[in-house]
Parts: sequence; structure tokens; C-alpha cells
Amino acid sequence: MWALCATALLCLLTVSQSAPPPCEELVRPLDLDNFQHFLGRWVLVAGSLSNPENEEKFRQRETASITIVNGTTGLSLHRNFGFGNTCHYSSSNITMDGGSFNFNDYNVTVSFLHSSCADCAVMRFDNNARDVQRLYLFSRGREVKQEEADEFSAQAKCFNMLSPIMLDPTKELCPEKITD
Ligand SMILES: *[C@@H]1O[C@H](CO)[C@@H](O)[C@H](O)[C@H]1NC(C)=O
Ligand SMILES: *[C@@H]1O[C@H](CO)[C@@H](O)[C@H](O)[C@H]1NC(C)=O
Ligand SMILES: *[C@@H]1O[C@H](CO)[C@@H](O)[C@H](O)[C@H]1NC(C)=O
Repeated sequence: MWALCATALLCLLTVSQSAPPPCEELVRPLDLDNFQHFLGRWVLVAGSLSNPENEEKFRQRETASITIVNGTTGLSLHRNFGFGNTCHYSSSNITMDGGSFNFNDYNVTVSFLHSSCADCAVMRFDNNARDVQRLYLFSRGREVKQEEADEFSAQAKCFNMLSPIMLDPTKELCPEKITD
């Protein structure tokens, strides 16, 4: 039925309104012909982890955001995490590799997945392109629509990850601190 529908846009829209797209669509990495879109600041809205141990750590942060910068020394990713009244900062150099990017100092590859939320980026972090470890829903804003959160939950399920943990959108973000 899906193959039949895929050829007809009208049918596709009807399907996507009534149920989330099938896993093959939800897990498909995006073809990044324009990485430019992913530069700038992204606020973490929700995360889905692969094991409860990492989940524990994830829950300790109240807020998180990343900023991807194309600077004079190349691409870098700047993170900030808010824990209560303190902010923690760290940075990594990254390298584009086709439609994904790699951390120069870790064997972690990040690819971008389909999202029906226009202001969002769903990023899949995996260990040397083997095991999916983290699935993060980032947004340019603080909150996403219920159906966008539901779609992210469906993506986590497709990867056999734990149910997403939503961050509290009312907590104040740490100020950005970018040194290039
Ligand atoms: C980063 O900047 C360089 C030089 O301005 C440019 O050639 C390159 O395409 C940019 N890369 C991205 C991913 O925007
Ligand atoms: C990123 O690369 C630049 C230039 O090679 C280097 O000066 C800087 O220390 C690197 N930053 C990190 C966090 O590794
Ligand atoms: C990444 O993985 C490769 C091969 O699996 C290994 O040789 C290399 O040391 C690893 N690099 C880091 C930074 O862990």
C-alpha cells in the first residue's frame, strides 16, 4: 500500500496526517547539500538515549544548546549545558563528511534525520557509524508542537531507543560563549 501511495502526493499527505511515516522514512539520514542551514544555535528540546545509564546523566542537565560555527579554523561545535545555577561550556572541532559530520577528537558521527518541524534538527549520534547512542531533537525555539514531539518519539522507537526525555522549556538558557 505504501508503494502505491508514495507515487501520489495527495495520498502521501493523507497518510502522514493520520499516522507517523514508516520507520524507513523516519530513520533515513537527510542528504545535506546545504549544511549552511545547520549553522547557528540549536536548543535541545528532547533526547532519547540508548541505555538507562546515559539517561541518568542526561537528566542532570536542565538546559542545553549547541552552536555550529564555520569559522576561520573550520567548523566547530560549541555546547553549553545548564545545571541549576551553573553553566558548563565545551567545544569541539568537527568535519563534514558527506551528509554528516564527525568530531575530530572522538569517534562520533552525527547525521541529520527527517523532521516535519521546519525549525528543528533531529541529530543522530553514533559510535563510529555503528551503534546509535543518542537521538536529539533540537529547535531554533524552545518548544515544538505535540505532533512534532510525537514524530520524534516514533523515530526513537524505530531505533529501539528509550522514550525521549523532554527538557523544561521554561528554564533559562545559558548565554552563548563562542571563542573561535
Ligand atoms: C565554511 O566557510 C568556507 C569559507 O568561507 C566555505 O568555503 C565553506 O563552504 C563553508 N562551509 C559550510 C559548511 O558552510
Ligand atoms: C580546533 O582547531 C583549532 C585549529 O586547528 C585549534 O586551534 C583549536 O584548539 C581546536 N579546538 C579544539 C576544542 O580542539
Ligand atoms: C576511532 O576508531 C578507530 C578504529 O575503530 C581507532 O583506530 C581510533 O583510535 C579511534 N579514535 C579515537 C579518537 O577514539
